[in-house]
Amino acid sequence: MQEKILILDFGSQFTQLIARRVRELNIYCEIHPFNKVPVIDESVQGIILSGSPYSVRQEDAPHFDFVKHHTTLPILGVCYGAQYIAHFHGGEVLASSTREYGRANLDYIKEGNPLFKDVLKGSQVWMSHGDTIARIADNFEIIASTDSVEVAAYQITGTQTYAIQFHPEVTHSTDGKQLLQNFLVDICGCSQDWTPDSFIETTIAELKAKLGDDKVVLGLSGGVDSSVAAVLLHQAIGANLHCIFVDNGLLRKDEYQSVLDSYQHMGLNIKGIDAKQRFYDALAGLTDPEKKRKAIGRVFIEVFDDAAHEVQGVSWLGQGTIYPDVIESVSVKGPSATIKSHHNVGGLPDFMKLKVVEPLNTLFKDEVRRVGAALGIDPNILGRHPFPGPGLAIRILGDITPEKVDILQQADAIYINNLRSAGVYDKVWQAGAIYLPVQSVGVMGDERTYENVICLRAVESLDGMTADWCHLPYSLLAKISNEIINNVKGINRVVYDISSKPPATIEWE
Ligand code: XMP
Repeated sequence: MQEKILILDFGSQFTQLIARRVRELNIYCEIHPFNKVPVIDESVQGIILSGSPYSVRQEDAPHFDFVKHHTTLPILGVCYGAQYIAHFHGGEVLASSTREYGRANLDYIKEGNPLFKDVLKGSQVWMSHGDTIARIADNFEIIASTDSVEVAAYQITGTQTYAIQFHPEVTHSTDGKQLLQNFLVDICGCSQDWTPDSFIETTIAELKAKLGDDKVVLGLSGGVDSSVAAVLLHQAIGANLHCIFVDNGLLRKDEYQSVLDSYQHMGLNIKGIDAKQRFYDALAGLTDPEKKRKAIGRVFIEVFDDAAHEVQGVSWLGQGTIYPDVIESVSVKGPSATIKSHHNVGGLPDFMKLKVVEPLNTLFKDEVRRVGAALGIDPNILGRHPFPGPGLAIRILGDITPEKVDILQQADAIYINNLRSAGVYDKVWQAGAIYLPVQSVGVMGDERTYENVICLRAVESLDGMTADWCHLPYSLLAKISNEIINNVKGINRVVYDISSKPPATIEWE
């Protein structure tokens, strides 16, 4: 049975980060809303209570049945979690006179306390709280303090319940990882055996048991998630996995063929479908970005549905859904978990009525990449920049024609190849060229030209939610600009986008 740690989410922005840190220690964990605690079986080694935007003093503060668990399982309360246990079990939490936010140092650490093994006095921690624990119950013991926060950490004497006011999951807490390791390994007894290889082994066994001789249909996009999901399913059920890869005519230059080739090379049972014309027909004359997206989504469903019907007796739809898409986050506006709305099943295309299998739905993106590497997937697929589903259609401003797609593909290929050969591709989070619906005057030889503008975009980001434009070297930009203008007919000017998100977005449409 897979050992695990439960992280109960009280709505903190740092909850996912706690999960990341736990997993970096090769320990599997799951995030659950505080008001939907799953059944605790023997696989659960310990519980972490997250922070929260709430104050325990608020009437609608989120509650958790602490007494039920604290005698049986190790518990670590973080920030709100620490305040919660203190406040409702004989102590008192008050509003701080000043909000404590930022770096602090532990100038007292109780000698020999297992939570602070190998953490030295003076260790820097990160505080972010408006309330402070003013008093703790008699059977609680302070195990660390800073000069302004006396109860920076406590233990309930004689139990495995620990609590800390600071955030061990942020890198500003310099010994945060050590502290988490002390809790998870020494106190909870986790064995740190959750690795890409062990994930692959257990997932393949689970998929075999779940799917038996059933057939699965899966749409590949050329991206990381669907590729890794496909290879895992392929290893579990072989040719019963039927992959479909649609050429919507909006992919990068030569991408359809090269991705198809590498999938075939991996031994996947894959069918490529050239549906370019169907997409171009549906897009003809559309200029509004949302209408373009909708048309592409509609045609994709039609094409995929047709292809899925050709597979006889299929009963499952495989998907590359990853963990951030399935975590039910606790709504900050009220402690009711947000639930994704469901479509009206009656109106859905047939393939959407299939049972869904999502082998990556417990993994974060970087974990998907590591699993992909352990499966031997081509690094070119694993290291790919994100690419939007509607593809080049949202990088051609205005209406789409095959000619514009061709021009943009050429310019984009020059751009991306140069990023690769200059060794900067992997340092950039996402890059692409944009075809602007603007013509400007130029001069080539003795000829006056009046042609379109290509804009280059490159951003640094962690998750696409915020982004900074990349400071690419001028010499590289100059080389790319020259190559595009000299080689791509119809383009006489190249510009570079120096906007960050927010207030701009990564894509132009
Ligand atoms: P924005 O432009 O919103 O993009 O800053 C953030 C990230 O999302 C991608 N993106 C999309 N992906 N369908 C997708 O599959 C879309 O319609 C879409 N729009 C934007 C974008 O490429 C970036 O990675």
